[in-house]
Amino acid sequence: MDDCFSVRDELMAAVETATSVDELERIRIGALGKKGRITALMKDLGRMEPEARRETGAALNALKDEIATALDARKAALADAELDARLAAERIDVTLPPRPESVGSIHPISQTIDEIVAIFGEMGFMVAEGPDIEDDWHNFTALNIPREHPSRQEMDTFYLPGESDGLRKVLRTHTSPVQIRTMVRTPPPLRIIAPGRTYRCDSDATHSPMFHQVEGLVVDESTHMGHLKGCLIEFCRAFFAIDDLPVRFRPSYFPFTEPSAEVDIGCTRKDGQLRIGHGDDWLEILGSGMVNPKVLANCGIDPKRYQGFAFGMGIERIAMLKYGIPDLRTFFESDLRWLRHYGFRALAVPSLVGGLTP
Ligand code: DAH
Repeated sequence: MDDCFSVRDELMAAVETATSVDELERIRIGALGKKGRITALMKDLGRMEPEARRETGAALNALKDEIATALDARKAALADAELDARLAAERIDVTLPPRPESVGSIHPISQTIDEIVAIFGEMGFMVAEGPDIEDDWHNFTALNIPREHPSRQEMDTFYLPGESDGLRKVLRTHTSPVQIRTMVRTPPPLRIIAPGRTYRCDSDATHSPMFHQVEGLVVDESTHMGHLKGCLIEFCRAFFAIDDLPVRFRPSYFPFTEPSAEVDIGCTRKDGQLRIGHGDDWLEILGSGMVNPKVLANCGIDPKRYQGFAFGMGIERIAMLKYGIPDLRTFFESDLRWLRHYGFRALAVPSLVGGLTP
């Protein structure tokens, strides 16, 4: 019995001071395993007198239970302590400021194109596209700009190396060739806009060698100047989100339209500050006109049966006006600070009323 008591005290002390689950397992095997100390004491029972065997057997069974219970309790305590330590170490401080997210933003040109497409889309226009590298016929001749025409010189064209027919391809100087491509390919009625890149050999605070335009074209049997005016007034008011924005049509000249009109919107200029809206001043924002019958005929459309109107405007220009961006060159400098300032949040949905709804 002496043995039994000393083994108990030793084992209980070891369990009590164990500092890991592994150590507890070693204690368990040392006491209760095949070669364990309690197991060895159990084996000795066989050699005892019946009376002593009963007594010692009962004490050893009780000891086995006691040790097993103590092992379990210590194991649970160690697991709790481990969890407490982990919780303390991994605690999340919800008062910390969030890490800055690096989210991209929409370039003002893309945003402006999206808005233009949304506005004309609601009027039933489809988006058409054409190539940046154009041939002479689509960029000039079909638009009633023959070789000796002065407006060819005005356009500061980028020419590509010569073709075998002697006519050099060009980087399109305007989006108007998309009108031609559309009319040649698709019979009327037509209602398209064509936003895209355009190129002219010119560079200063208000000119970039690459810039963007959007072209518009409507052709139908009964299209007239009233449609042109209604459509463009509606666009200007929706784009600048000013319901009663004054819009003026001023006679002008383009080879591809007859008659032609430039469109001005009302503004004020005070202390060097330009404000779109009411005022005594005007600001030109786009060119337009009734499609020249010669252009319709060049595209195989009968000018006696069909008429149409067209318009074209610079996208940077109207983006600068709407969003107060002072220098055209900054659009293409890819300065992230500029983009963070003037860029737009993704998923903003353009709408006809009041500009943007987030
Ligand atoms: N293509 C002209 C330009 O680049 C803009 C333009 C004016 C387009 C009148 C048109 C139009 O379709 O009718 O300056």
